[in-house]
Amino acid sequence: MDKKLLFVVDDDRHQQRILRLLLESKGYRVKCFDSGEACLEAIDEEPATVFLDLVMPGIGGKETLKALRQEREAIPVIMVTNIDDVETVVELVKLGAFDYLLKPVDESRLIPCLQKATERHSLVHRVRHLEQELQETHTQIGIVGNSPALANVLEKVDKVKDSRASVLLLGESGTGKELLARAIHYGSRFREGLFVDINCGAIPDTLQDSELFGHKKGAFTGAVEARTGKLELASGGTLFLDEVAEMSPGTQTKLLRVLQEKTFERIGDNTRIHVDLRVISATNKDLKREVAEGRFREDLYYRLAVFPIEVPPLRERKEDIPRLSAHILKKYRAELDKEVKSIIPQAMDALMHYHWPGNVRQLENAVYQAMIDTDSSRIEFDSLPPEVTSPEAAPVREADHPTPRQDPKPLQSWDEVQKQAAAKALRLAQGNIPRAARQLGLARSTFYRMVKKFGLR
Ligand SMILES: Nc1ncnc2c1ncn2[C@@H]1O[C@H](COP(=O)(O)OP(=O)(O)OP(=O)(O)O)[C@@H](O)[C@H]1O
Ligand SMILES: [Mg+2]
Repeated sequence: MDKKLLFVVDDDRHQQRILRLLLESKGYRVKCFDSGEACLEAIDEEPATVFLDLVMPGIGGKETLKALRQEREAIPVIMVTNIDDVETVVELVKLGAFDYLLKPVDESRLIPCLQKATERHSLVHRVRHLEQELQETHTQIGIVGNSPALANVLEKVDKVKDSRASVLLLGESGTGKELLARAIHYGSRFREGLFVDINCGAIPDTLQDSELFGHKKGAFTGAVEARTGKLELASGGTLFLDEVAEMSPGTQTKLLRVLQEKTFERIGDNTRIHVDLRVISATNKDLKREVAEGRFREDLYYRLAVFPIEVPPLRERKEDIPRLSAHILKKYRAELDKEVKSIIPQAMDALMHYHWPGNVRQLENAVYQAMIDTDSSRIEFDSLPPEVTSPEAAPVREADHPTPRQDPKPLQSWDEVQKQAAAKALRLAQGNIPRAARQLGLARSTFYRMVKKFGLR
């Protein structure tokens, strides 16, 4: 088995050495850091536990603890300190420390404490793994995400999949409607049949009939060969009508008849063919409005929308972004033959705060482009497309802009200017330090130092 990795953070090299020797003798792998900043920079290595000195120059133990909790909640942090007063201990526990040890560290307390911590670390991982397994049926099709909004959609998918009810998927472009249509088909008892899709938006009106119904040889000019229509192919399986709002009025009428009578004729041929299929449709338009404005047949609408499912836009389920991004990295790693494995927290933060008008498809493009751009094994902030990283990318609410004061003020000191800027950025970012740092264009560690210096937390 691999040796577990531990981090020791202490500005005192002698203390580092003591802990390192002790821990290595117990079979752990140990990395030492002189400051909280250095530890945060390396946190992607995912240590099983961090030993953190309380008093250090730079951002110090408490700020480092806060940052660790914010960025890597699963990693237990054991504080190592000279200070043994109740208040400090309570405060550290409130900030999320797993436990604390007094200097000089006593081996008989160190080891049990560490064992508990690493156990918890692997337990958290195990829970995550199980959660993932639960999603397995969906992930086979590649549906990724753990937001309540997506779970709600998948629950509906499960309920409807084995019935014959017509499903209408409604949602903005790029939200995953086609993926869900496939999930419904391949998860259903009709999966032995074919999944046949027709994109009504991509086929000119005049050809829609022949695509759907097929035709006899010579049925019209250009029909040089007989052709089997998609209805016939889909019989026994699923017909997916993509961009259904774009279906021509003539085809709408014919399709309605097929759905009512379960039979149809090929063009130029009057033998009746029986079909037995389930229909899934999708649109990013407001189909009810298309009906109200006379562009879509109302009776067909009710046939297709027996079971409507709304697919929420990505900005309403941002919790899905980390898993989606990891999924995209994995998907393109082989194609690009590039070992891009992770996304640095600052870049992830930008992904989390962008509003994604093009939804999952746009996220996929952004991560893909960044994978091509980056020269390292991680996606850096600067590799992301500019629209995602520009300060305007995160929408700011009206109320966050205080009305400018009218009275002329004397010039402020440089410290005062920095303090106000930092405080404002923190407020706008709702206390999220990496995001606030990004908005000011500062390195995270620089920003942490400012927060500490000006006592902003
Ligand atoms: N939950 C998800 N998990 C993994 N990949 C997803 C998810 N949702 C969408 N995608 C991916 O995003 C891209 C767009 O999805 P899809 O084509 O299904 O969207 P759509 O809603 O049909 O868009 P449009 O209306 O523009 O046709 C695809 O590459 C798809 O695989
Ligand atoms: Mg689509």
